[in-house]
Amino acid sequence: MSSPNGDLLEGFSERVDVMPGVWFLPRFAEPESLNSDLADVVARAPVRQMKTPRGFLMGVAMSNCGQCGWVSDRRGYRYAEHDPDSGEPWPEMPRSFSLVALAAAKACGFDAFAPDVCLINRYAVGKGMGAHQDRDEQDLEQPIVSISLGLPARFFMVGPERRGRSIPIDVADGDVVVFGGPARLHYHGVRPLKPGDHAVHGASRWNLTFRCARSLQPVAP
Ligand code: SIN
Ligand code: FE2
Repeated sequence: MSSPNGDLLEGFSERVDVMPGVWFLPRFAEPESLNSDLADVVARAPVRQMKTPRGFLMGVAMSNCGQCGWVSDRRGYRYAEHDPDSGEPWPEMPRSFSLVALAAAKACGFDAFAPDVCLINRYAVGKGMGAHQDRDEQDLEQPIVSISLGLPARFFMVGPERRGRSIPIDVADGDVVVFGGPARLHYHGVRPLKPGDHAVHGASRWNLTFRCARSLQPVAP
C-alpha cells in the first residue's frame, strides 16, 4: 500500500524551480479538501488583526492551528501554545492540512518535514504583506510550505537582503510555494490583493503557512 503522501504525489506533475531553495507547485493542493477544515478551524479560533510590537494594527487577519501559534503584541513576535483571545489551545492541525504540507515538502526534497504550526492569513482586498523573513522558528533546517486559497495574488521573493530585485510568483487557489535550505531566511512578501470575487472565499485570499516552530515561550506570569 502506498503512503498517503505517495498518493498525493502521484497526480503531481509540475514543479517550477524558482531559485535555489524556492519551488512553486501550481495547483498542488485540492482546495475542496482544505476549505471545510479551514472553516472549522477559524470558527474555533477566528482570524484577528494582531498588533505589531510597536502598536500598529497588522493589515492581514491571522489565526493558527497546531501545537502552537504565531502571535504578535507589545511583547514581540513569538509562538504561544494558547490563543491569546480565548485562552484555549489552538485548534489541532487538521489531517487534510498536514497531508498536503508533507507531500509538498516531499516533492521538494524535504522528506522529514514535521510542521507543528500552521499560520492562517486572511487578506482582504488592498491588503498585502511587506518584505520580511520568517525567522521566529527554532528549526531552520525545515522548510516553509505555503498554500494559497481563494483570490489570486502576487507573492514575491527577494533574497537574503530586504531590498533588491524580487522574483514574482503569481499564486492562485490551490498553488503551493515551498522555500527552505539556502532560501529559508530569504525576505519575501505579498503585493496588495486586487479586487475579485472567488466562488468560495468571496473577496479574500487565504494563506496557510506550515512551519516547524518548536520554540514555545513560557507564558508570562
Ligand atoms: C507569509 O509570508 O507569511 C505569507 C505568505 C503568503 O500569504 O503567501
Ligand atoms: Fe512569511
